[in-house]
Formats: sequence, structure tokens, C-alpha cells
Amino acid sequence: MAFQNIIVEIRGQVGLVTLNRPQALNALNEALIAELNEALSDFESNPGIGCTVITGAEKAFAAGADVKEMAQKGYVESYLGKFLDGWTRIAETRKPVIAAVSGFCLGGGLELAMMCDIVIASETARFALPEITLGIMPGAGGTQRLPRFIGKAKAMDLILTGRMMDAAEAERCGLVARVVRPENLLDEAMAAAAKVASFSTPIVMMAKETVNRAQEMSLAEGARFERRLFLSMFATEDQKEGMQAFVAKRKPDFRNR
Ligand code: HXC
Repeated sequence: MAFQNIIVEIRGQVGLVTLNRPQALNALNEALIAELNEALSDFESNPGIGCTVITGAEKAFAAGADVKEMAQKGYVESYLGKFLDGWTRIAETRKPVIAAVSGFCLGGGLELAMMCDIVIASETARFALPEITLGIMPGAGGTQRLPRFIGKAKAMDLILTGRMMDAAEAERCGLVARVVRPENLLDEAMAAAAKVASFSTPIVMMAKETVNRAQEMSLAEGARFERRLFLSMFATEDQKEGMQAFVAKRKPDFRNR
């Protein structure tokens, strides 16, 4: 499929998606979300890819879902249709995804970033869930994921006032993993992704799945889930290789088996 709204590249073992609707500050319309799903699903089934980076432009990672497209929507048509299905599928991506965020990261843009596993932000990044100003609330997981990232107090502050938070505040409250200089953003994100991709893909996928369970399960259930997957790793060749390489003081050669 030829993409109109994103640019897709493969660099080594990393898939790179650049959101590309500059005239609309990368507002996420349905066509873009469908293309993003297609790219992620291609990467997911490509054994040569171990990690994906999603980035935007200098001025905007994404200024939200496309308000001009949403403005026309009605309830019944949306309920019967597939309005948010594409967004849900992004959150279900099994290989790790890193968001490299510069500029505006608003509404659905922030919800997309929070579906990613690591968020790396430029010093210029600005985050908000301004849906309240449009007569709606976040609808792609924002009301649920934001409090899990930053706690109820700050999540309520952001969701009920719609205010913007800068990169320093976002790092302080745990919304982003790292803040870097604007000129280093993509290099840092690609280096982190290359590092993740250099490890055993099935083990990385299990680690991602297990950390995500922490958001959904009790501590006891989560720890049992972790134990089960941890023990299953001893059935992989990559566990043998990783540990034998350590003992032999050589670099491991993971085969994703
Ligand atoms: C559609 C958008 C857009 C959006 C910007 N544009 N954001 N189009 N949907 N979310 C368009 C503008 O209409 C304008 O197009 C062009 O991009 C440049 O934007 P400007 O407003 O001229 O830029 P600036 O003055 O720099 O202001 C930047 C901004 C502002 C502060 C980010 O654009 C803004 O407030 N955007 C809306 C942010 C927002 O409310 N996001 C949440 C959306 S709701 P023209 O054609 O006029 O030049 C949401 C719900 C998700 O995300 C729920 C699940 C799906």
C-alpha cells in the first residue's frame, strides 16, 4: 500500500514511521490511523524488525485526532461503525514501540504516545489532553492511561482544565522516559530502538507484555504472570545463548528462538 499520511522506513532492525500531515500539524485522521495500523502490522510480521519508532515533525508530533473530520460525526453512526477500532489495534502491538515526540503532542496525539512503550521527548515537546475545550473528553484511552502514568491529581488537572504541560514537567511526573535536545531526538530514539532490537525479540515481547500486565492486574496476579513467563524463557535458545555468552565473556548472538 502506498502511504499518503505517513512515511515508512526500515533502518537496520528498526521500523520508523514518520507522521506526515504537516499542513494539519499531523492531526490523526482515520486514513492516517489505518496506514499506521498497516505499517505496524507489517513490522509485526517482519522477523527482521525488533522495534518501531513513531515520530512526527519538529512543530508537532500530532495535534490530536482530526477535529475537522470528527466534527461531522453522529452518535449512532459512530456506535455502529468502527470509529475507534484502529486506535485500539495500535495499543495491541506486541513488538515494542518508541514515541519520539517534538512539539505539540495533544489529545489523540498524546493518547497515541501513551500507547507506545517508551516516550522520548524533545525539550520543545508540549503535552495536553484539550478535548474538554471541544465539548468532549479523551476517547482513545487518555482518561485511563494518563492517571496510570502520572497519578489522579495531575491527570484530573490536565483533563479537566485542558492545560498544556512542558517537557520538563512531563518528565518530572513520569509521562516521558527521557527529555533530550531537539537536535538529538531522532538519533536518541533510533539508538534506543536499535538497542531493544538487538535483544531476543520473543524475550523483549514477553517483557513488554508482562510490564503491561502491571497496569491491569493485582500485584499478586501480576507477579504470578511474571513467574510463568520468566520460567518459560528457560525453554528458549536465546536464554541459553545469553547466559553462555556472559560466562564465556563474549557478545551474545540472539536468534529469536
Ligand atoms: C484538525 C488541526 C488540528 C486538529 C491543528 N489543525 N490541529 N486540524 N484537527 N486536531 C490544523 C489547523 O486547523 C490549521 O489548519 C493547521 O493545522 C495549523 O494549525 P494552527 O492552529 O494554525 O497552528 P497554531 O496557531 O500554531 O496552533 C497550534 C495548536 C492548535 C495550539 C496545536 O492548532 C490547536 O489547538 N489544535 C487543536 C488541538 C486539539 O484540540 N487537539 C485535540 C483534538 S480532539 P488551517 O487549514 O486552518 O491552516 C482529540 C480527541 C481524540 O484528539 C479522541 C480519540 C480519537
